[in-house]
Amino acid sequence: MNSSLSDSPTSHELTTKSKEAVLITGASSGIGLALALQYVEQGFYVFACGRNEQKLNSIKGATPLVFDINDKEQIQQAALKLATSLKQNNLSLTMVILNAGSCEYINDPVHFDGALFERVIQTNVISMGYCLEHFLPLIGANGRVGLMSSSATYLPFPKAEAYGASKAAVNYLASSLRLDLKAHGIGVSVICPGFVKTPLTDKNDFAMPMQISADKAASEIINGMNKGQSEIHFPKRFTYLLKCIACLPKAVVSRMLTPSADKA
Ligand SMILES: NC(=O)c1ccc[n+]([C@@H]2O[C@H](COP(=O)([O-])OP(=O)(O)OC[C@H]3O[C@@H](n4cnc5c(N)ncnc54)[C@H](OP(=O)(O)O)[C@@H]3O)[C@@H](O)[C@H]2O)c1
Repeated sequence: MNSSLSDSPTSHELTTKSKEAVLITGASSGIGLALALQYVEQGFYVFACGRNEQKLNSIKGATPLVFDINDKEQIQQAALKLATSLKQNNLSLTMVILNAGSCEYINDPVHFDGALFERVIQTNVISMGYCLEHFLPLIGANGRVGLMSSSATYLPFPKAEAYGASKAAVNYLASSLRLDLKAHGIGVSVICPGFVKTPLTDKNDFAMPMQISADKAASEIINGMNKGQSEIHFPKRFTYLLKCIACLPKAVVSRMLTPSADKA
């Protein structure tokens, strides 16, 4: 698949209130789609990224940028097209939200699935390195990067060895990058949602307390990005509860979270 910046009428007909642009990965579905729609609504020039061109084309008012986040060459091509578009349309790229990701669970811990582990780390972390390499140099002064993590990182959860490890790596990446980009005038936000109703969580077969809609999640993220928050976490009742539990002694936390059949 080649990266492509669509020439669809939507990108030409776009009327932007400002010349600020935002790039969102994983914009074809769930939280990323809701973000793209809200930023378009607010008058931003939106570069909506994903692999599914058809889905991206249906986001009215956004400009599709088609690439696989795990393919370095496709990202490089996409960045070239992005740079051209920024110049031609006199845009300043003020926000890059690296939201795309996947979730797979380790169902048999004894026969640990190394390939699954690699897939999840690749898509949720390594790909961010590729995107940062090519998109960071295009961010304008006072820009901001948003990196999608998860509130799953506050506590160890069963079966989340791969997903949790990938998102914990994103947290560290964000914390470290924040220090180094400060002198360059670029802010970094790490985004830690609780449960959000999307195709990703629709596959889960367990209870998801305090789940919110993708629209609500997008509003929280946009608000946090606007305020320049280092950590954007929501819904607060849920995330503060996890943060409080994380303060308990490790043995207590472990007992609380060990699946009941395994408790001695
Ligand atoms: N939903 C939740 O409760 C929740 C909670 C915490 C964190 N998150 C995080 O939020 C992010 C978005 O999740 P979601 O719930 O909105 O899931 P989703 O509806 O499944 O959307 C995932 C998005 O990522 C894109 N993507 C996946 N692999 C890709 C690849 N190799 N190349 C390019 N794009 C790729 C998908 O694009 P395609 O159309 O190309 O597949 C899709 O647009 C993820 O990082 C997830 O871990 C979600």
